[in-house]
Amino acid sequence: MKAQGVLWILLGLLLWPVPGTASSLPLVMDSIIQVLAELEQKVLVTEASSTASAWILSAKNSSPHNSLHKHLLLKAPSHNTTEPDPHSLKPEFQALVSEVAQHDVKDGQEYGVVLAPDGSTVAVKPLLAGLEAGLQGHSVVNLPSDCLEVTDAFTKASSQDVGATPPNGIPKPTTAVDRLLTVTLAGDLGLTFLQSPQTQSPPGLGTEGCWDQLSAPRAFTLLDPKASRLTMAFLNGALDGALLGNHLSRIPEPRPPLSHLLREYYGAGVDGDPLFRSNFRRQNGVALISAPALTQRVWEALVLLQRLEPGHLQLQNMSLEQLAQVATFATKEFNETFLGCPAIHPRCRWRAAPYRGRPTPLQLPLGFLYVHHTYVPAPPCTTFDLCAANMRSMQRFHQNVRHWDDIGYSFVVGSDGYVYEGRGWHWVGAHTRGHNSRGFGVAFVGNYTGSLPSEAALNTVREVLPSCAIRAGFLQPDYKLLGHRQLVHSDCPGNALFDLLRTWPHFTEVKN
Ligand SMILES: *[C@@H]1O[C@H](CO)[C@@H](O)[C@H](O)[C@H]1NC(C)=O
Ligand SMILES: *[C@@H]1O[C@H](CO)[C@@H](O)[C@H](O)[C@H]1NC(C)=O
Ligand SMILES: *[C@@H]1O[C@H](CO)[C@@H](O)[C@H](O)[C@H]1NC(C)=O
Ligand SMILES: *[C@@H]1O[C@H](CO)[C@@H](O)[C@H](O)[C@H]1NC(C)=O
Repeated sequence: MKAQGVLWILLGLLLWPVPGTASSLPLVMDSIIQVLAELEQKVLVTEASSTASAWILSAKNSSPHNSLHKHLLLKAPSHNTTEPDPHSLKPEFQALVSEVAQHDVKDGQEYGVVLAPDGSTVAVKPLLAGLEAGLQGHSVVNLPSDCLEVTDAFTKASSQDVGATPPNGIPKPTTAVDRLLTVTLAGDLGLTFLQSPQTQSPPGLGTEGCWDQLSAPRAFTLLDPKASRLTMAFLNGALDGALLGNHLSRIPEPRPPLSHLLREYYGAGVDGDPLFRSNFRRQNGVALISAPALTQRVWEALVLLQRLEPGHLQLQNMSLEQLAQVATFATKEFNETFLGCPAIHPRCRWRAAPYRGRPTPLQLPLGFLYVHHTYVPAPPCTTFDLCAANMRSMQRFHQNVRHWDDIGYSFVVGSDGYVYEGRGWHWVGAHTRGHNSRGFGVAFVGNYTGSLPSEAALNTVREVLPSCAIRAGFLQPDYKLLGHRQLVHSDCPGNALFDLLRTWPHFTEVKN
């Protein structure tokens, strides 16, 4: 109950942010955890009245895009916790909360996001909405009677002729809405795709960005200035909200303090339960969210929004079939461009030095993937800080000792759940002498002469990275996979790893 009271207050703050001065706290996950910890303490010791509930009520008309949250989260059974006065939060905490309260993308900047210890950037609002939905227990809420009309519509839609059936099958009639996925992901996914032509992804889906600085980040600039609201940070926050909310809904009371939960989930490195780790949010998301279920959730969210916001221009006059088509396409794109792709930290995230000179563009798609190990550094890197430091030291070595323009590899795979962008998809690398313009060079951090990389890292190079690259048109569907040693006199990528590569799909023997 206590955790719920804390979230309740925070959601109140989110929905009706206090205008204030910019916070002095860095925009990092730890700042959010500190606020939660302070609220948790206050809920324990104060008997103050429920100011937060009053705030929430008066938030009703404040923000146009919150009707799903209000409908699904704030109509929860009444809380009976003693709630502290939100104004009693330390001023810098209040300022931080109002600063991250709303997620927004404007003029190439993204607001409402923080840097997590694993190097990912996370939108706070969908994260907290997921926690709240999880605390409210059952993941499915019955639609209240003013939505009976919707129920009728669902029933009607399901009995309509098959000619209108979208590819994934028409969504089933329902009298309930899954709160968790709807408030974290499905609502925004549906709305964002609604605004694009129905066969096209919104611009900049999953766009990454750069922090002004990593030690005390304050501002986040997107790499694609035309990005839609479905940025990488938003998708990360939505997925974390869904995963953590699902976790919370399954553990019995008394639940652990949320500050502890977030500290564990975002803790640096990959020790502990991989099923409960921000580093592996995509893998865990695949297990949690099936595409047909998500299609259904997106559709329900759009139908519900159509009723809740009769003035919404893009929703007006859309038939249930049209909404189902939007939901099907949105889910497919989310599944293929986000869940089905590796998490790649852009160059700015590891503080890459600039490229020296002018890069040569690749002629895409390429037909080869060359696998390397770094050999030095020899130990696998298991934290963001360590992997990023490894990237900088390899770049220094390649630029200053080898006199190359840049780090040689196209991509580097850590054992922290992340891929690090080297020269990337578009520029010729310096990884496989004589063959650099024909293939991408992908290196595992570590020395794999006598041992193998983690299963997660292996799966990234065997499955996820290539299938994502094929879909994006960077790699040919019949690409050939080779070890570095097959083309250049070298032991790379190590005996153990090379023996394994020989068993992989797309591996190709080279005849001399
Ligand atoms: C709510 O709390 C008050 C005071 O602690 C108590 O008297 C009341 O019975 C509680 N109500 C419910 C529904 O638990
Ligand atoms: C929806 O239909 C109504 C009635 O036909 C019409 O007045 C309105 O302009 C339409 N709205 C949009 C956005 O097309
Ligand atoms: C989702 O993506 C996975 C691979 O990334 C694929 O196997 C699966 O078929 C996709 N599902 C749908 C419904 O598109
Ligand atoms: C790499 O591993 C092999 C076998 O375990 C070992 O003999 C070699 O010294 C290691 N090299 C480095 C640089 O750590």
